[in-house]
Amino acid sequence: MSGHDALRIDLDRLLGRLDALAQVGAIEGGGVCRLALTDADRAGRDLVTGWMRDLGLRVSIDAIGNVVGLRPGRREGAPVMTGSHIDTVRTGGRYDGNLGVMAGLEVVRTLNDAGIETDFPLAVAVFTNEEGARFAPDMMGSLVYVGGLPLAEALATVGIDGATVGDELARIGYAGDAPCGSPAVRAPAVRAYVELHVEQGPVLEAEGVTIGAVEGVQGISWTEYTIRGVSNHAGTTPMRMRHDAGFAAGAIAAEVRRIAAEMGGDQVGTVGALTLEPNLINVVPHTAVLTVDLRNTDEEALREAERRLAAFVAALAESEGVGIVARRLARFEPVAFDPAMVAKVEALAQRQGRSVRRMPSGAGHDAQMLARICPAGMIFVPSAGGVSHNVREFTATEDIRAGADLLLHLLLDLANG
Ligand code: GLV
Ligand code: MN
Ligand code: MN
Repeated sequence: MSGHDALRIDLDRLLGRLDALAQVGAIEGGGVCRLALTDADRAGRDLVTGWMRDLGLRVSIDAIGNVVGLRPGRREGAPVMTGSHIDTVRTGGRYDGNLGVMAGLEVVRTLNDAGIETDFPLAVAVFTNEEGARFAPDMMGSLVYVGGLPLAEALATVGIDGATVGDELARIGYAGDAPCGSPAVRAPAVRAYVELHVEQGPVLEAEGVTIGAVEGVQGISWTEYTIRGVSNHAGTTPMRMRHDAGFAAGAIAAEVRRIAAEMGGDQVGTVGALTLEPNLINVVPHTAVLTVDLRNTDEEALREAERRLAAFVAALAESEGVGIVARRLARFEPVAFDPAMVAKVEALAQRQGRSVRRMPSGAGHDAQMLARICPAGMIFVPSAGGVSHNVREFTATEDIRAGADLLLHLLLDLANG
């Protein structure tokens, strides 16, 4: 192991940074609104990059706005990287993503204070637009970083408010000049990647387990449907003569629930966004736009859910006499993390006297993109009540300590490998 077994992070310092970051874009109830590339995101980035520089990290910003703070090692070469994201959904909590970045900075501070050099460099990354709530797909920054999405395509992405990624990056001053999305940043660029994150689900808390050794991330399928019918009078139009976009949207939402219930297992399905036009009580809607989020740990099962929904939508368009156009917003197959990394997380947790279980991730994470170019893994800590993407998201301080201490020693181990 590291030879520094007694070394521990400073919990108060870590909580202090988490708290300060949570003040940026703070919303009622203790939550945070820092949608990607907004003014609040810029303010959060400014705070974090300032901390990186204070810690002596060499900060670089790439063309999709990913921020990487590098701590040199005794040897040249690819760094061992940790990190996550600091963008949030509109009604986000203060831990999702932020914990991974703040814990990475705390690891650096702890090593600096103890005068510990590592063989290989260490890096702390803040990836752009992990949430995908404003601009799809999610994990956009890490996807471009590993060469999985052309930079130009990412920059041209139009968000839910009509803004584009490229314009917003430039506007907030985070369109950097470090290369990304090119072969130059592939395999040799990162030696290994580990990310500490809150579970965002109920499993660890329910089982009274402190650490999740994450084995992989489930597949994600995001589709937007635009439905066009005919507006008419709500009182005078016989039911048999309607081409009701609102009804069709509701039917799709109900079908998504039905598919998940019928398939069972790990299948989940969500209609999270829905708009109607003209959205008036006495007018049959002529247009509806809605999003469908389908996920499953099994790729074949996920495809089956997609097939069922597509068949339903086609039949619905026919029977209601509406036009329905589908637009794919994101599609990622399930990802398995490096088995050696999963075993390392598990063994290190046991060594530190923590209860640990292996588990899949229900949420998407930057680690699943980094897994394309290097051995990658994740550490989960419990989320109270399994609540996330909600201002009430909460993780107990002792769990944060356990996760950050584990991250510290995992990074030491990997950077001295
Ligand atoms: C993004 O992080 C998601 O899982 O929706
Ligand atoms: Mn996250
Ligand atoms: Mn999230």
